[in-house]
Amino acid sequence: MVRVLDVVAIVAVATTATAQQQSDYDPLQYVDPLIGSANGGNVFAGASIPYGMAKAVADVDSQSNQGGFSSDGGNVTGFSTMHDSGTGGSPSLGTFAFFAYPGCDGDDINRCVFPKNARKVGYVNDSIKAKPGSFEISLVNGLSAAMTTTHHTSLFSFTFSEPSTSPLILLDLTDLQNSRQDNASISVDADTGRMTGSARFLPSFGSGNYLLHFCADFKGPSIRDNGIFANSRASADVKDLQISRSINGYPLPGGGFIRFGSGEGPLLARIATSFISPEQACSHAEEEIGDFDFDRVKKAAEDMWREKLSPIKLDFTGVDPDLVKNFYSGVYRTMVNPQDYTGENPLWKSDEPYFDSFYCLWDSFRSQIPMLTIIDTTAVARMIRSLIETYVHVGWLPDCRMTLCKGFTQGGSNADNVLVDAYVKGVSDGIDWDLGYQAVVKDAEVEPYDWSNQGRGGLDSWKSLGYIPVQDFDYKGFGTMTRSISRTLEYSYNDFVIAHLASRLGGREADVQKYLGRSGNWQNLYKANQTSMNFDGSDTGYTGFFQPRYLNGTFGFQDPLKCANTDSSGSVCSLQNSGAETFESSIWEYSYFVPHDQATLISLFGGPENFVKRLDYLHDQNITYIGNEPSFLTVFQYHYAGRPAKSALRSHFYIPRFFSTTPAGLPGNDDSGAMGSFVAMSMMGLFPNPGQDVYFIIPPYFPSVSITSPATNKTASVRVTNFDPTYAAVYIQNVTLDGQPYTRNWIDHSFFTDGKELVITVGSTESAWGTRVEDLPPSVGEYVGFNGSAPAKRMERRMEDGREEAAGMGRMGLP
Ligand SMILES: *[C@@H]1O[C@H](CO)[C@@H](O)[C@H](O)[C@H]1NC(C)=O
Ligand SMILES: *[C@@H]1O[C@H](CO)[C@@H](O)[C@H](O)[C@H]1NC(C)=O
Ligand SMILES: *[C@@H]1O[C@H](CO)[C@@H](O)[C@H](O)[C@H]1NC(C)=O
Ligand SMILES: *[C@@H]1O[C@H](CO)[C@@H](O)[C@H](O)[C@H]1NC(C)=O
Ligand SMILES: *[C@@H]1O[C@H](CO)[C@@H](O)[C@H](O)[C@H]1NC(C)=O
Ligand SMILES: *[C@@H]1O[C@H](CO)[C@@H](O)[C@H](O)[C@H]1NC(C)=O
Ligand SMILES: *[C@@H]1O[C@H](CO)[C@@H](O)[C@H](O)[C@H]1NC(C)=O
Ligand SMILES: *[C@@H]1O[C@H](CO)[C@@H](O)[C@H](O)[C@H]1NC(C)=O
Ligand SMILES: *[C@@H]1O[C@H](CO)[C@@H](O)[C@H](O)[C@H]1NC(C)=O
Repeated sequence: MVRVLDVVAIVAVATTATAQQQSDYDPLQYVDPLIGSANGGNVFAGASIPYGMAKAVADVDSQSNQGGFSSDGGNVTGFSTMHDSGTGGSPSLGTFAFFAYPGCDGDDINRCVFPKNARKVGYVNDSIKAKPGSFEISLVNGLSAAMTTTHHTSLFSFTFSEPSTSPLILLDLTDLQNSRQDNASISVDADTGRMTGSARFLPSFGSGNYLLHFCADFKGPSIRDNGIFANSRASADVKDLQISRSINGYPLPGGGFIRFGSGEGPLLARIATSFISPEQACSHAEEEIGDFDFDRVKKAAEDMWREKLSPIKLDFTGVDPDLVKNFYSGVYRTMVNPQDYTGENPLWKSDEPYFDSFYCLWDSFRSQIPMLTIIDTTAVARMIRSLIETYVHVGWLPDCRMTLCKGFTQGGSNADNVLVDAYVKGVSDGIDWDLGYQAVVKDAEVEPYDWSNQGRGGLDSWKSLGYIPVQDFDYKGFGTMTRSISRTLEYSYNDFVIAHLASRLGGREADVQKYLGRSGNWQNLYKANQTSMNFDGSDTGYTGFFQPRYLNGTFGFQDPLKCANTDSSGSVCSLQNSGAETFESSIWEYSYFVPHDQATLISLFGGPENFVKRLDYLHDQNITYIGNEPSFLTVFQYHYAGRPAKSALRSHFYIPRFFSTTPAGLPGNDDSGAMGSFVAMSMMGLFPNPGQDVYFIIPPYFPSVSITSPATNKTASVRVTNFDPTYAAVYIQNVTLDGQPYTRNWIDHSFFTDGKELVITVGSTESAWGTRVEDLPPSVGEYVGFNGSAPAKRMERRMEDGREEAAGMGRMGLP
């Protein structure tokens, strides 16, 4: 332990010495795209611009190649132009890969190796240079590849360590997961070598299929010849190919090739894709990279990333540089997915933006999209417009969406949370909120026939019984009839955010009442006398858990520790038909998923002290798993029990221990930057309760963090007095907001848009700051059982107080 006074002295000196130079740094140097490229992080480590459709990287055949490249070994099968980042499910995209040879043995075209499985080659580990906007790698056979991208177009540069006599580039009509359907096609222009074509593939975690078109052009020494290949044979006499999937379930290898005369310099291959047509792909390529100038494209991509990261400025004096890297790499990954496919959607005609690769909202509603609301508000507004327009044309908001297909829902209708979070934070920018409201109400009222893909299931029971029964009778729609507990909890929160939006939009009092009422449905699965035994048979000592409940009202039973991180009994916990009543997590962890009514939950759990003890048990016994998103909120829920200091400690318990800056540094799938946002927002010291205008305050991991709101150009900052880079002193002693004492342990979004200043004084012991009932975040129910406090006010009063005291803060306005 470092005594506070020592820390003050050390930091005072350090601050004056280096603060100057640190106000002026290039954030890109702290981004390492390889973090999460091994150990199941599944991040996309390659070249992309923010939200770009083109994502170029080397694809490997590792078991964990969902993002194309993986640094846990495997051989490189090709270099392809589209990917997703951090996803589970099957490998995503990886379409139309290139491969290159310095020449074919004996100058015989048939002695170059065409099929993916036969041509793959290992890579040289220390050859990899991954940076925002570019990626370079060398293979053990002497082929080196560098790649960079614009929005729809990738530019690859290939060089060989050995002299190239008649270098060849092939283009393969395949994708990463070998999902190509029947009748892909390619045409090669004899004069220019331009290759155009199309193929149909499957989404990686959803239903349906998608048709993608490409246009590839090449630049090298003089063109020698070109043609097509099918399986392992090629010919320059044939320029057009239509190829079957073949009958053995494996897509038959096929594609095009181009050979060049001998000469100096790299071979350049440019490829653009389009969901509309090959012609549109060609026009993207010509407009975006008409000059084949690799350095220009790379610099433009870097500049875009620099601009996107520019709202944030850190003073990281004295801080471990790895934490700075962790922070910026996390922020970076929030802007790789979703992808902006505006102008690329063949499914409907519309002038609205179209975003894809929402993968999935169950993951990204929690902190990824809230992070973007702070630093890239315009992009979030466009995402929301896209979600609403998808509702207009598809009939429901998506819960997950990739490659123009519906993705699988994991629990609730979480687009509701995304929309309401943006609304309560004032995101407007051309959003039709009445239409948005209509969309979320449809989720709550109308059951889709395919609720495995959108909306919610079991709505008749939901409305009549007030919970999702285990073994429900649901003949109106179809989905996996599991997860009755986690669906009940998520639907409850979805209904809360609808009530919240109805209240804020105004003129919808009946709806406010209805959805606020349903938002209490979670209580119907609470079984007050349910105990929980450890796997060794000992009693955890805690009583009162959610339990499955039948249609007739009788409780069933699920071990509260089933599907916990510590459950090694082989439980089935995902979307399988035999799955549990909780999705990818235990009843223990879901016990805390009542984001809108922690006060009532605290009472059910026997008051704040028991609530805190139990939350400690959840974390300390490894029941929760920080590598999956339901854990995020649990780190900060101590705030509701008047112990904000314990949230800070818990955050430091996980970061950096479970989040290092190595390729294997993520504890689970990054899920489109969900993990990255958890790290970044925790380190900022302001973590959201998404769907509400609430950020929990803990001390940032840096002496100061400043964020300029792109919505207003005002700069908000959090400064730590007595900053301790060893993080022994992470206890908030007191706080000022714009110079005035501030005792609430949470703050609202006007902090960012009004450019306010929080000054947090830390020390090495827990203080009384933020512990009183009036300091706690809003909750639907009343806080009771807190020492020396009058019964707490309900949420609507508290939010009104907030409005009176904090200018710009909206009213929750519940009855
Ligand atoms: C690269 O590193 C991986 C993981 O450490 C290892 O399995 C592989 O053998 C290495 N490959 C080479 C070519 O060094
Ligand atoms: C990569 O290919 C080489 C042969 O080129 C093979 O020896 C090696 O086992 C492969 N590695 C993996 C991980 O498949
Ligand atoms: C593929 O092409 C063949 C031959 O032109 C045609 O008979 C078949 O219906 C096509 N299949 C699909 C799925 O379009
Ligand atoms: C537990 O509570 C349920 C109702 O919630 C009741 O039916 C049951 O009898 C209780 N069991 C015990 C052992 O008290
Ligand atoms: C309710 O339904 C369950 C499941 O079918 C059954 O096991 C239980 O006995 C029923 N309870 C009553 C009171 O009928
Ligand atoms: C929890 O996991 C950590 C490693 O991640 C281990 O050090 C610790 O002993 C575990 N605790 C319990 C109670 O199992
Ligand atoms: C913020 O500043 C930029 C650059 O000066 C300007 O283009 C933009 O319009 C400003 N935005 C607002 C909301 O004032
Ligand atoms: C904040 O706490 C520090 C350390 O305990 C103390 O020196 C300072 O006077 C306090 N400031 C206010 C405004 O209470
Ligand atoms: C309530 O007071 C008791 C006795 O002073 C103390 O041990 C406990 O920590 C307090 N609880 C809360 C929630 O403040």
